[in-house]
Amino acid sequence: MSGRAGQDAQHELAARAVITFARAMKNVSFYEPSHPVVREVLQKFLDDLLTLLESRPELVVKFVSGYVAIDNRAVTGRHAALGNLAGACARRGVEAVTFQRGVRAGDIEGFAALLAADPEAVESSGGISNLMLREGIQHIVVERFSERPRGDWRWVHARTIDVLRSAAVGVRTHRPLDIAGVRLSIREIVDDVLGERSILFNLNSLKGMDEYTFIHAVHICILAIELGRQIGLERSRLEELGLATLLHDVGKIFVPLGILRKPGPLDDEEFSVMSRHPVDGAVALVREPQVPETASIVAFEHHMHYDHSGYPRVPRPRPLHLYSLIAGIADVYDALTTIRPYRPALPPLRAVEVMRSEQSGRLEPRLLSRFLAMLGPYPSGTLLGLPGERMAVVTRPNGDAPENPFVRRVEESAGGNRLSREELPLQELSAAPGGITVLDPNALGLDLTALLHEATAGSALETQVELV
Ligand SMILES: [Fe+2]
Ligand SMILES: [Fe+2]
Repeated sequence: MSGRAGQDAQHELAARAVITFARAMKNVSFYEPSHPVVREVLQKFLDDLLTLLESRPELVVKFVSGYVAIDNRAVTGRHAALGNLAGACARRGVEAVTFQRGVRAGDIEGFAALLAADPEAVESSGGISNLMLREGIQHIVVERFSERPRGDWRWVHARTIDVLRSAAVGVRTHRPLDIAGVRLSIREIVDDVLGERSILFNLNSLKGMDEYTFIHAVHICILAIELGRQIGLERSRLEELGLATLLHDVGKIFVPLGILRKPGPLDDEEFSVMSRHPVDGAVALVREPQVPETASIVAFEHHMHYDHSGYPRVPRPRPLHLYSLIAGIADVYDALTTIRPYRPALPPLRAVEVMRSEQSGRLEPRLLSRFLAMLGPYPSGTLLGLPGERMAVVTRPNGDAPENPFVRRVEESAGGNRLSREELPLQELSAAPGGITVLDPNALGLDLTALLHEATAGSALETQVELV
């Protein structure tokens, strides 16, 4: 066998091996890895693995956004055990596992035991790679998200969605919430916001990539952390705020999908089901000893407004928690600027106008003005008209010069519009601010999210998975 057919056969064998490993890991949640039931399945995995390693030096298994990929090809088909394995790895920050030639049964058993161990205990003992080293596990190498180079924002974003998704599934099935992976993600987001803020500036290119609820939660978390940074919250409070905002909508896991995904406004009955999610979320979170109290407060209060309108209605409203006020502002902005099945996304400046006018009484005024100042006169994702019928899209702010943000030009190409590779300060394209207008991409039929997504995809090229 040669070429593509040979590769396919290899891929199939490797996929079978990884599915066997995933099944063994399921057994490890009931028995010790040294138990004969587990040993037998692990031995089967080892047999397949050794056959594979006769013709190649190593087998690399990656976990990307809920997918398991081998040799950068996703393993297709529905395998519950694979999903569990991907979740277990994501919660432990394991992005890729490499099995190398020379690996033995003892290494695999030791690795399986660490993967099944309490993630927080593993983390507090220095992380999985460290423990593997200490326990003499050889020929298995794990790569961790937290060890990825700074600025790899797509990975942080994708992983946060993964850990949130598996946390939400835990809530639905009333399993204890595995918070370690969530905390790791929050730490990475706070690192990014305190450092390069690349995730923040790229939010517009990430919209619509995954289920709305998860994406929305991650975006609110990022916006809230940035607003928290702007008002001078210290790091530990930013992490607490990040956790609370990431989990704010967790009660939606109890809302039927038909209502969550309804392509239109909800009727009264549907709305009354939907409006239970703050209470359901708060109840689920308050039961979790590892989740700070502020998370259940934010889940409960995030649809209550500053002027005491909103829901759930309470007999004697009290002032809302600072984190709930921040979450409320981030929530409105993200909701307005995100495309929904029944309406287009509003351009950022239009959303700002709506927040200033219609929403103003509902949002805490000082926080709102900090938030609007933080977005600046040209928020990222704004489409600008330049002299000479040229257009550009704002990609990120420019240090202390809010009126001169970085932009990419909209270029016409054979396949339609695209954004220039080069990012320039706005004033290099138009020295006179008078010549600049703000345009509505919806009116022009431009899909800005797609353009931004394509323009920023380069940074993720090496790690892209070929979904076959
Ligand atoms: Fe909500
Ligand atoms: Fe929300």
